[in-house]
Amino acid sequence: MIVQKGSEPEAVARGVAAIVARHEAREGALLPILNDIQAELGHVPAGAIPIVAEALNLSRAEVHGVVSFYHDLKREPPDRPVVKLCRAEACQARGAERIAHLFEGDPRIAVETVFCLGLCASGPSAMVGDRVFGRIDEARARRLIEEAGR
Ligand code: FES
Repeated sequence: MIVQKGSEPEAVARGVAAIVARHEAREGALLPILNDIQAELGHVPAGAIPIVAEALNLSRAEVHGVVSFYHDLKREPPDRPVVKLCRAEACQARGAERIAHLFEGDPRIAVETVFCLGLCASGPSAMVGDRVFGRIDEARARRLIEEAGR
């Protein structure tokens, strides 16, 4: 991790510049850069937009438009750990709704609905950070909530 949540703006700028440097030579670099910033910081801070725009020779409005368009790219840091719970058909057939109330009822975490995490045969599935978990039963859901909520 190059940048930590809560880092000073200068540290964020250095971290964003390092992420940009990793990708700027590739075609279609904007989304990989924004995804990496999101992964590192949990959001795409406003201060990242001019850095990315300048590096890719785009306008700030273009970069801002992409950040606004994609639901997974957040403009503010999350106030709680986020659990992404799959509610697509395969996971529903395997009991996603039976465990959903456990996640949704816990104030320590925020729950986002997603539609497929690529672990359909092992559903119900959920994602915390960059880790995907399958075969979530009640006991596993409670463990995930405990770990995510720390
Ligand atoms: S349907 Fe849930 S992981 Fe694919």
